[in-house]
Formats: sequence, structure tokens, C-alpha cells
Amino acid sequence: MPGLLKAAELDRTSIDELFGLARELAGRRRPRPAIPAVVGLMFFEDSLRTRVGFEAAAARLGVDTTNVHAQRHSEQMAVAETLGDTLRSVAPYLDAICLRHPDADAFDQAVELVETPVLNCGNGVDEHPTQALVDLLALDELRGEIEGVRIALVGDLKHMRSAHSLLVALGCFEGVVARCISPPELGVPSPFAQRFCEAGGRLEMSIALDLSDIDVIYVAGLPRTPQNGVTIEQQDAYRIDAKRANELPRDGLILCPLPRVDEIAADVDAGARAAYFRQSELGLGMRMALLERALG
Ligand code: CP
Repeated sequence: MPGLLKAAELDRTSIDELFGLARELAGRRRPRPAIPAVVGLMFFEDSLRTRVGFEAAAARLGVDTTNVHAQRHSEQMAVAETLGDTLRSVAPYLDAICLRHPDADAFDQAVELVETPVLNCGNGVDEHPTQALVDLLALDELRGEIEGVRIALVGDLKHMRSAHSLLVALGCFEGVVARCISPPELGVPSPFAQRFCEAGGRLEMSIALDLSDIDVIYVAGLPRTPQNGVTIEQQDAYRIDAKRANELPRDGLILCPLPRVDEIAADVDAGARAAYFRQSELGLGMRMALLERALG
């Protein structure tokens, strides 16, 4: 029964199967008969869309959920138990685990210790492959096809894990051109870029917000954190406002995994190209598909 830890585990066949399942399940009007299963929602970092999305997806599949928020679960514990110990303790109670954790290394080591399928809901600054599938579904649904898309990934591409997984997953489609637009010190890490290129994708790099010949903008986010040293001037330079949105073709799309702070100005929301809330909505069907696949 497959979990999903990295976007590199995906191929065109598995993505198409998940698209089909997501569309079938999201379209159901009647609840399914209950599946005797329990999904662990283990989020050791804040989450709105991913956690609520998987909880709602499980409810619609008739699957129970249990939430785990902290590895330090007793007043007497001065430090948290390891993620490995936590997972080994609860995995036998669970049929699938949705896991978010701030530490990519701890995550990679811990998931090797359990047999229960794990869906990676964000591991540090590394990957967020379930989000990438939501993004791909939105692209396919709203554009009609992913092949041949010219997509600009904009923001802190060094630290924004959704962009890493999306770039790798886009490599499963023919003729994709990805323009990575970021401050020079916040470029996409080479393993993700390399994977995309090896799969046949064409990668372009730009420091300027150059949207010429672009069909879709993926706003990855450019928050100011102690980690990335982003300045207010840089945030201004990369912000998508209505004027910049209008540089896209009429049928162009602006996608964003959300949350946004002000990477996308509010004046973009009413425009026809603003697709991020529809993208978020499509996440429910994809999360149902991922759970159904993980639960067998
Ligand atoms: N896109 C995303 O991962 O959102 P949350 O942090 O709200 O789950």
C-alpha cells in the first residue's frame, strides 16, 4: 500500500491514476460505506489546508482520524521524544499517516522505521509532494493539459518545499518549460533542478520578474525569515499585482499553494487568471485519492 515521500516516486502513470481517482471521488454526492481504518494526522508544524484537507478527505471516505500535535506529550518530559520513537509507537495503531515535520533529516530517518504508509505533508525545506499533486491537478483541470506549459516559479525557491516537489513532478510531462525566478541567493537547489532537466524539462533561470512567454505563474512565496534574509525591497520586486498579472495571456493562470502573505496583491483576486482558491478547492479530491490509494 503506497505512501508518498518524494515527488521522484511519481511517474506519468501514477499521476494519471491519481487524477482519475481524485475526479471520481470529489464528484461523489453520497458518502461511501465506512472503511474500517484510522488515519493519523501527525502535524508537528502549523498547517491549515493540508491538515484540514486530509481530515475532511478522510471523513468523506468514512475513515476515522486521530490527531498528534506534539512529541513532548507530558509535563515531565524536558525534551521531545524522537520522531522515530513517536512513529514506531503509534504506527501499528494506524492504517496511514499524514506527516508534517520541520526537520527533513529526522523525517527521512524516522519514516524508514515504520511499515504504515506515510504521506509526506511537508518535511522541513525539502519537499511537499502531496501539495505538488494538488498543484498538478489544478493545472490539468484549469488549463486542460500540462504538456507544453511554460510556467514561472516565483519566490524563495531555495526554501519553499512545494516548489521543489512541483518542479520534480512537472518533469513527468512532455515539453514543460520552467522559469525559476528568485533572488540569486535563493535559487532552486540543484538536485531538484537536475531531476527536472534529466526528465526532459527545459529550465530557465531569472533574477528579474520576467513573465514574457509565460502561461502560468506559480507563486511559491517570499516570506521574510531569519533563514533567508529577504528584504522588503525584494518582496516588492517579486510581488504579483494586477498589472503584472495582465502580462499573462488571457487564459493564463496564477497558482499558489497558499498561504500568501502579500506575494499576490489583493487586486489580483477578482481577475480571471487568479486560480489559487480553485486550486485549493481541488485539493480535497486529490487528498481523498491519496488516502484511498494508501489504504488500498
Ligand atoms: N499549502 C499548504 O501546505 O498549506 P498549509 O500550510 O496551510 O497546510
